[in-house]
Amino acid sequence: MDRTIEPARRLRGTIAVPGDKSISHRAAILNALADGDAEVRNFLSGEDCLSTLKVLEVLGVETALDRSGETPTLRVKGVGLRALRDPCEVLDCGNSGTTMRLMCGVLAGQPFHSVLTGDASLRSRPMARVTAPLREMGARIDGRNDGALAPLSVRGGGLRGIRYRLPVASAQTKSAILLAGLFADGETIVEEPELTRDHTERMLAALGAPVVADGRAVRVGGRANPWDGFDIQVPGDPSSAAFFVVAASITPGSDLTIEELAVNPTRLAFVDALRRMGADIEIEPTGERCGEPVGDLRVRAAALHATTIGGDEIPNLQDEIPALAVAAAFADGVTEVRDAAELALKESNRIGALHQELSELGLAVEARRDGLVIRGGQPRAALLKSHGDHRIAMAAAVAANAIDGESTVRGWQAVSVSYPGFADDLASVTGGW
Ligand code: S3P
Repeated sequence: MDRTIEPARRLRGTIAVPGDKSISHRAAILNALADGDAEVRNFLSGEDCLSTLKVLEVLGVETALDRSGETPTLRVKGVGLRALRDPCEVLDCGNSGTTMRLMCGVLAGQPFHSVLTGDASLRSRPMARVTAPLREMGARIDGRNDGALAPLSVRGGGLRGIRYRLPVASAQTKSAILLAGLFADGETIVEEPELTRDHTERMLAALGAPVVADGRAVRVGGRANPWDGFDIQVPGDPSSAAFFVVAASITPGSDLTIEELAVNPTRLAFVDALRRMGADIEIEPTGERCGEPVGDLRVRAAALHATTIGGDEIPNLQDEIPALAVAAAFADGVTEVRDAAELALKESNRIGALHQELSELGLAVEARRDGLVIRGGQPRAALLKSHGDHRIAMAAAVAANAIDGESTVRGWQAVSVSYPGFADDLASVTGGW
């Protein structure tokens, strides 16, 4: 599907972006494993989180998503820690890496056989990072390339706790091991090379599960006690907000407030990077939900200049690099993104995709094995492609919104993975496309 985007319009007013994708997945999974019913308000009804619900349903968990209100509400009937149903169907995770990797951890702890698969993109993404530690814990897992690629076949149960240092910083891998650790004999310790998003450990700790985070090490006690279903209002997704923050920064005259946003520090590295570029961003904390800090963010247009993005900050802004690359395209000078080889392993090869699309906009861009070099300039209208990747589609739209002339984003439907209403929300603060 093509989406045509008309010339530059400033962003003004107040917006709430949809619920956080990472927190929505975890609220669904941990409530499925809880005793009793729960309500997850502002659940993200994007395709990725719907994939998690489909998988949970095949495992015997009843869920109901009510979209009649202003924001979606999910109801989950938890089955408890030890009552998932032996699935008689393949578990289809669609495009969702979080569904496949987190559920692989849960299934490693179950005394039955299950098979996880996904779309062509997900079937090409690396799974050995999850299957290797889960095998070390005692799960029998197989898959293409000796368990490196889905479909994955998991025969769980009989796990023992391990101490494991992640070779690659990944919140999904860390979470898979912690979830499996809940079902293991003995303690499990995961050490990360760099800090990654910590939603799993925050939510488990808020539920009273035996989880302790100490710097870059997280411990979980085995044979966890059951917890009760918990209601939660999911805060807005900072990775979705990043597209509006960049759009407002690069479009003169913009002044936008994003309300009720998740402001967990492991998610705000993109704000630091944008501030280094001269962006005008203020964050005001407003409270906490289930261990997660929430706040309002105000962004005003500013003249941006180039920066270098790399090192420790990379694991916490992988999802925002497409938006940051657009900021770099409009900034003065040469921006370098390095230490980001993982970008090539996301929903698309984001190094290749960004190189191609920024080049289409007429910019001088170099693709490297671990990043990009982007010379800011005067992007021109173009026919852009989503590469089947929601974040590339939204990045293209943000660039197009700030360019004189009409651009088109081909493959626009990819946005439904995390932000089905993105075009309407952008229209609501720009006055229409
Ligand atoms: C996620 C972790 C990140 C992120 C992904 C969601 C999660 O991936 O890119 O969109 O919910 O745990 P990594 O596992 O590579 O950190």
